Amino acid sequence: MKTIAIVSTAGGAGRTMLAASLAVLLARRGREVVALDFDPQNILGSWLGLDTLASDGIAQALIDVSHVWHAHTWRNDEGVLFVPHGQLTLAEAAACSARLAANPQWLAGAISEIGLADTGVVLIDTPRYPSPQADHAARAADLVLCVCPPEPAACATFVAHLPALRESCADVRLVVNRLNPAREMQRDVLAMLRVAAGGTPVAQRIHLDAAMPESLARGGWLFDEAPHSQASHDLHGLAQHVDAWLPAHTARAPS
Ligand SMILES: Nc1ncnc2c1ncn2[C@@H]1O[C@H](COP(=O)(O)OP(=O)(O)OP(=O)(O)O)[C@@H](O)[C@H]1O
Ligand SMILES: [Mg+2]
Repeated sequence: MKTIAIVSTAGGAGRTMLAASLAVLLARRGREVVALDFDPQNILGSWLGLDTLASDGIAQALIDVSHVWHAHTWRNDEGVLFVPHGQLTLAEAAACSARLAANPQWLAGAISEIGLADTGVVLIDTPRYPSPQADHAARAADLVLCVCPPEPAACATFVAHLPALRESCADVRLVVNRLNPAREMQRDVLAMLRVAAGGTPVAQRIHLDAAMPESLARGGWLFDEAPHSQASHDLHGLAQHVDAWLPAHTARAPS
């Protein structure tokens, strides 16, 4: 079983979209997939088909050691096993952060209780890095996918936090999201990023596609509704990259 943390140093970079899309595309390739929401926004479930925000999830186990978070998981119609974060009050959120700070191995311990096959994968959605949740996810992960839009502020914060991310996880790879080749500024920023990111492999570039939020709002997937769009090809490319990185299994042909 491998664990992948999806992090970014910028808000709205596309972490949740990528966590949900990768979960579905890897499940369609026959992988056993757990999608774990470790972001207090508690929104990943709605991308995976839940109608309401899950009230209970893994965060409650941080507050109450007797809370059995396994009892609050849910399997979506693609076969992805979803672990919600759970809704928290402000006081509970503060208690969670304190518990995470006091116990740096907490998330790694919780993930070790998930009994997937060697070829299975746990994908973790996180709040913006740095945060206690994103830090735990990076340290629990075998691979960190760092999502970065080709915008100056996002790239500058990515470069600033890259050494800490590399300290947490030996394998950090970049996913450039919201790429718009029509914008000359993005080409300059990408060139700067290549130099500043010093050898960080680029797992995939994903193009901006205005239809993506609309597909998601309808409860669908861009790669089903517009399978020949550039962004759909890019998302399949990322799933292929991750699938090739995971231990080999007898794959179903991708649909
Ligand atoms: N390549 C893309 N093209 C167009 N829209 C995109 C793309 N990637 C993500 N989006 C849209 O951008 C918005 C933000 O994406 P998402 O919620 O996944 O980001 P996030 O990093 O999880 O944000 P947050 O900081 O709020 O957790 C969503 O509406 C999503 O549909
Ligand atoms: Mg998010």
